[in-house]
Amino acid sequence: MKSLLTTTRVAALALGLAVSSPLISHAQKNYKPTKENLAAREKFRDRGFGIFLHWGLYSIFGQGEWYMTNANLNRDEYSKVAGAFYPAQFDAAKWVAAIKASGAGYLTITSRHHEGFSMWDTKQSDYNIIKSTPFKRDILAEFAELRDECRKQGLGFHIYYSLLDWHRDDYYPIGRTGQGTGRTKHGQWKTYDAFMNAQLAELVRDYNAEAIWFDGEWDQDENPGFDWHYDKMYAGIHALNPACLIGNNHHGEVHEGEDFQMFERDVPGANTAGLSGQAISKLPIETCQTMNGMWGYKIIDQTYKSDTTLIRLLVQTAGRNANLLLNIGPEATGALPATAIDRLEKIGKWMKTYGKTVKDGVREGIIPPQEWGVSTQKGKTVYLHILDWKSRMLSLPLTEKVKSVVAYDTRRPIPFQQTKLGLTLSFDKAPSEANAIDYIVEVTLH
Ligand code: GLC
Repeated sequence: MKSLLTTTRVAALALGLAVSSPLISHAQKNYKPTKENLAAREKFRDRGFGIFLHWGLYSIFGQGEWYMTNANLNRDEYSKVAGAFYPAQFDAAKWVAAIKASGAGYLTITSRHHEGFSMWDTKQSDYNIIKSTPFKRDILAEFAELRDECRKQGLGFHIYYSLLDWHRDDYYPIGRTGQGTGRTKHGQWKTYDAFMNAQLAELVRDYNAEAIWFDGEWDQDENPGFDWHYDKMYAGIHALNPACLIGNNHHGEVHEGEDFQMFERDVPGANTAGLSGQAISKLPIETCQTMNGMWGYKIIDQTYKSDTTLIRLLVQTAGRNANLLLNIGPEATGALPATAIDRLEKIGKWMKTYGKTVKDGVREGIIPPQEWGVSTQKGKTVYLHILDWKSRMLSLPLTEKVKSVVAYDTRRPIPFQQTKLGLTLSFDKAPSEANAIDYIVEVTLH
């Protein structure tokens, strides 16, 4: 995608067309985060681990959140399914309890995904959960209220918002997705722009979003010169709440005005999914990943990652100074899939003992990621997360003076030698026998 963007820009420049630089026009100009914003960024990093919830009309079809465009469903036919949205089992308190049990510190929930349906009582369109479904409950409000109750326990409340819309006529020019959903009348961008900004104001002001998680910019990457007017949008959000964090899943370099950076389906620095060639910024970072293969509920996708894989992913992100945002696609009934609940419980069990080594003030460690695993750190305490044992001797590029080295769970001292070249640890038995998920060594520096 990056190369495509670049090609488009080069072609436009060659033609002498005015092309807006994403770094200049796609930005809140001269953005200086406030003290509250900087504090919110730290809190976000401290929380370390979040749960992503993709829930919308698409959950009824059970084909993932892209079904509308993938199957070229006509938007007028598609929207009829709102009349069948009655998730009788939905209980925000239950979801929050399951999320908290996993050790996660925040949740990020979809408010309006690409399908264009709003899951809250928005005043900007009747195509919403109150006006268009028999359910008539504002699920975002139910979470926001719960969040107030849970505030002392510190569960953060973040809101996902899709920039693109496969339903509305005024989402025009049409992007590279949603071309077969029957939007033929073509309205004016300025009404869409006003609609989005008014919705965002509701989410920030009335629902106390601690972060807005944007998605869908890439839909317009084939329309050169296209401008989302982020300057106005980001400034509007920060004017309502300077502490509200803005992140945007555009897969590119961060735009001015953004407060955190995200990587989709990859730890920062890796690009196995092909969505992450962008440079790693100095902002707080979040990696989002699915538990199975899809974001929205997909009936045939039962290929859930094992708890070991998910915990290791959390460790791998923490060792790269990033949060993990792990996704669940709730069912149309309002239930979280049983396998997802199982994974939350298992991660939670691990977090009870080891959570201290990946969150609550822990950041990437002094030793950069290695073949055997990663390091994390809080103050003078360095945690070595050994995920892949190579030998019973471990040589580390650590020249700071070391006071003690112990196994994290048993507190048994581990013999070590320190030279000018680094630190060498010797283990008496292969620790993989002791802990198959993540063997943690605690190194205390002088
Ligand atoms: C991609 C997908 C979208 C999903 C998002 C989550 O942008 O298009 O459906 O919500 O990733 O990271």
